[in-house]
Amino acid sequence: MTGPRSSPKARDGGELLLVGVGTMGRPYLDAAARLGVPVRAVESEAAWNSRPAELAQRFYRVRGGREEDWVGAVAHAVAERAPDGLIAFAEPHVLAAALAQERLGLRGPSLHAAVVSRNKALQRATFGAYGVPQPEYLHVGRIAEARDWMLDRLPVVVKPLTLSGSEGVELVKDAAAVDEVVARRADEGEVLVEEAVDGPEFSWEALVRDGEVVFENHTAKETTRPPHFVELAHRCGHRFDSEAEAPVQALTTGVLRALGMRTGLVHLEFKVGRRGPVLMEVAVRTPGDYLPDAVGLTYGFDLYEAVVRLSLGLPVPALPRQPVRYAATVFPTAPPGTIRAIEGEAEALAHPAVVRVRLRKGPGDTVRPLTSSSQRMGHVLVAADSPTEREDALKFVRETLRVVVTPTGTDSRT
Ligand SMILES: Nc1ncnc2c1ncn2[C@@H]1O[C@H](COP(=O)(O)OP(=O)(O)O)[C@@H](O)[C@H]1O
Ligand SMILES: [Mg+2]
Repeated sequence: MTGPRSSPKARDGGELLLVGVGTMGRPYLDAAARLGVPVRAVESEAAWNSRPAELAQRFYRVRGGREEDWVGAVAHAVAERAPDGLIAFAEPHVLAAALAQERLGLRGPSLHAAVVSRNKALQRATFGAYGVPQPEYLHVGRIAEARDWMLDRLPVVVKPLTLSGSEGVELVKDAAAVDEVVARRADEGEVLVEEAVDGPEFSWEALVRDGEVVFENHTAKETTRPPHFVELAHRCGHRFDSEAEAPVQALTTGVLRALGMRTGLVHLEFKVGRRGPVLMEVAVRTPGDYLPDAVGLTYGFDLYEAVVRLSLGLPVPALPRQPVRYAATVFPTAPPGTIRAIEGEAEALAHPAVVRVRLRKGPGDTVRPLTSSSQRMGHVLVAADSPTEREDALKFVRETLRVVVTPTGTDSRT
């Protein structure tokens, strides 16, 4: 891929176009401001009213939530003026950014990596050819076509091709559950069914420059029990033992090679099953769940700023290889019902390892059964001096921060 074209209007550091900001993408704007890099940003209708106008020269509003709407808004922004760097924030922005990067010769993951990453069936099809360990799978136009396949391989997982946050991902345990899911999801259209991999789950966050890994972190994940696998905690700076290290590295490098990954942030999820590490999925965008904050605290640098530098071709200082602290994000839970009170917030915040408590729900709000990430009620970020102290802090937060709920069915208002 060629380097960025030089824009006569750009300053020394160039100009950045950020695709998608929301709340979690704001640190990119802060990082650009620190670097003195002017930014334009493409923002969704949903986040429009809270756009931080002081942090960008210009915002482009995206009407509608489809990938095509983002493509249109980005095309509009780059037709007005070509930026020197372009960053996609979340999943719906990846393709819009990659199309513009390809068109303008800007640094990015590559159009190939972006397209493949956007579709789980495309990932499975491509990665199989590169020997990446994956679950056995079947891609069908309608779930009924997978009935016999599922019955032969129970337990299995059913998932949509292009959603995220565990939305629509479920474990199917036995023959009765196969019949139930085939009936319930009969009208859904294409799905992927996969052999269920049993084992602990991890993710890998990496910064890649021209295909070379310049920084990497492993995160250990805690999810809800089957059937829905909603993420409940992420612990950064995980070290694998010597036996697991080589196969994990083979998996991550195999995925980069299969993607043809060029430059940017990669977030890859895998489980370690009986036969070693097995790929769940890969994304070429900012990881969710405030993971960049936790990664940054763990290694003592600003991951967002490093991404801005990579996208503009600015020098990236040597990045740390060892944790300096041990950070985690944890997501408080409560049984379904109506929140009566949230207790212990100030107490949790006073713990020396607790960096922040950010809750999206409060008294009177409804807690729904936890079937996807979007139903979680907020997060707590912790950073401790050792893994043991981190465990103590997580235990303290879980015991102290209590969401008191009137269970569904017993509340007079429902
Ligand atoms: N084949 C599988 N075997 C076991 N668990 C799986 C499998 N596929 C997905 N999961 C679980 O479901 C979660 C969500 O699935 P994933 O493919 O990552 O979709 P999403 O894009 O919604 O995150 C995974 O992180 C993992 O915990
Ligand atoms: Mg996932």
